[in-house]
Amino acid sequence: MHSFKELVEEFERHLMAHPFPSAPDTLYEPCRYIIDLGGKRIRPVLCLMSNELIGELNTDAWHGAAAIELFHNYTLIHDDIMDNAPLRRGKPTIHARYGMTAGILSGDVMSIYAYEQLAQIKQALAPILSLFNKTAIQVCEGQQLDMDFELRNDVSIDEYIHMITLKTSVLLACSLKMGALLGGSTGGNADKLYEFGKNLGIAFQLQDDYLDAFGETDRLGKQKGGDIKANKKTYLLLRALENANDSHKKEIAYWLQNDAEEKVHAMLSIFTESGADVLCREAVEHYSNKAFDCLEDVAILGKRKAALHELASYLLQRDK
Ligand code: IPE
Ligand code: IPE
Ligand code: MG
Ligand code: MG
Ligand code: MG
Repeated sequence: MHSFKELVEEFERHLMAHPFPSAPDTLYEPCRYIIDLGGKRIRPVLCLMSNELIGELNTDAWHGAAAIELFHNYTLIHDDIMDNAPLRRGKPTIHARYGMTAGILSGDVMSIYAYEQLAQIKQALAPILSLFNKTAIQVCEGQQLDMDFELRNDVSIDEYIHMITLKTSVLLACSLKMGALLGGSTGGNADKLYEFGKNLGIAFQLQDDYLDAFGETDRLGKQKGGDIKANKKTYLLLRALENANDSHKKEIAYWLQNDAEEKVHAMLSIFTESGADVLCREAVEHYSNKAFDCLEDVAILGKRKAALHELASYLLQRDK
């Protein structure tokens, strides 16, 4: 069994062995830029770990992992346009640095390169493609809901969980299921790993919302308070809307209609004073526990699941 670190290193070698073409540079330079900036590479590693859970790591799993990471990076490029984000992985976002055309087209072409990787898979291609396509459609649906919610002030917690399941958690779930299917798992364990990924992904996005508000830009590599500026209906905001006192509720309503330098600071104080920050941490823990229960259910020797367990624990304590 390989460690997280070993898999990341080997995965990056695999990714670099399939470079983007050189011309037109205006299209491919932004693709190289975002990929070379790194990122945690969680999704490909989940795919590789679940493949290794079933048997020896195989070539198909490396292609599946690359497809997922390329797809993830494509969603980040377009997400940064939609979220008007200036920073990603500690550097200017693609649209900020290279312009809007680059943001749109480099994202588009990267999603096609993801399919180029999938096309090289030798076994079970039909179910893999169908899993991948279903997931990609769900991510688009989730991203649309995320944007629609910016304009609404009556989003429920259930609607929020549904939205983050679609925009974020199904891709982690898909990574795990794909690795298992490519390892020859038939049914049961692949579906259990999917459920593990779904709950892990929900906890992961809750943590992402928390860090957007309370993390440090230098660690995160993203603009702190971006969600507050965009009126994102994060778990923190929804819980604050529910639990804040009347004067804080009025203040939230004001900030949802207005922008000024002190908006982020004012909302952060309300998140803390209403206890929304604590509720968010508790929700991370709730979904992590659910995820670990699902991992327990996977019918494989506990010892073999140690790497996945360790990765999941790291994710939930991350500060970037
Ligand atoms: C960011 O994902 C987008 C979300 C779904 C929250 P990651 O936090 O995995 O981003 P990188 O790839 O490590 O930069
Ligand atoms: C992004 O969610 C989810 C996808 C990219 C599909 P966020 O908008 O919260 O991700 P970050 O915080 O910009 O990485
Ligand atoms: Mg974003
Ligand atoms: Mg977003
Ligand atoms: Mg975020």
